[in-house]
Amino acid sequence: MSNRTFTMIKPDAFGKGHSGAIIDMIIKDGFRIVSMKLTKLSSEKAGEFYAIHKARSFFGELVDFMSSGPVIAAVLEKENAVADFRKLIGATDPAKADAGTIRKLFAASVGENAVHGSDSDENAEIESSFFFSKLESY
Ligand code: RTP
Ligand code: MG
Repeated sequence: MSNRTFTMIKPDAFGKGHSGAIIDMIIKDGFRIVSMKLTKLSSEKAGEFYAIHKARSFFGELVDFMSSGPVIAAVLEKENAVADFRKLIGATDPAKADAGTIRKLFAASVGENAVHGSDSDENAEIESSFFFSKLESY
């Protein structure tokens, strides 16, 4: 069990102006923001980030979507961070997400689903290093 996870507010949620509400939910759920930045992924970088899905039919769409606008990347800290954060964001498909979850509230579809959350401690570490070469923690 690790105490850190990695998240991104995806271009759909950023573009619709939901970033503030989402960050508020994250903080109210007890996560501490360790590091955070606004950035934009090139399609090359988006493909690298989601390389695990390269063979999937939706990969092209996913890369186009994730590079379509700014994202807010952040490293979050809480006990049991990875699992607790996946609970807070809800199922990949917002139609299947529990009431009150970030995806239920802010996502439009399985493809454009508002937020990313790491799925394991190992990936949280890899994904954090992808965006933050040096973690400045305050
Ligand atoms: P994420 O990695 O972004 O936190 O999402 P996840 O774990 O809930 O879902 P995952 O299976 O890792 O899929 C990564 C992202 O690919 C897009 N996707 N589109 N059109 C589709 O059927 C489909 N399936 C997945 C979503 O943006 C999903 O979050
Ligand atoms: Mg995933």
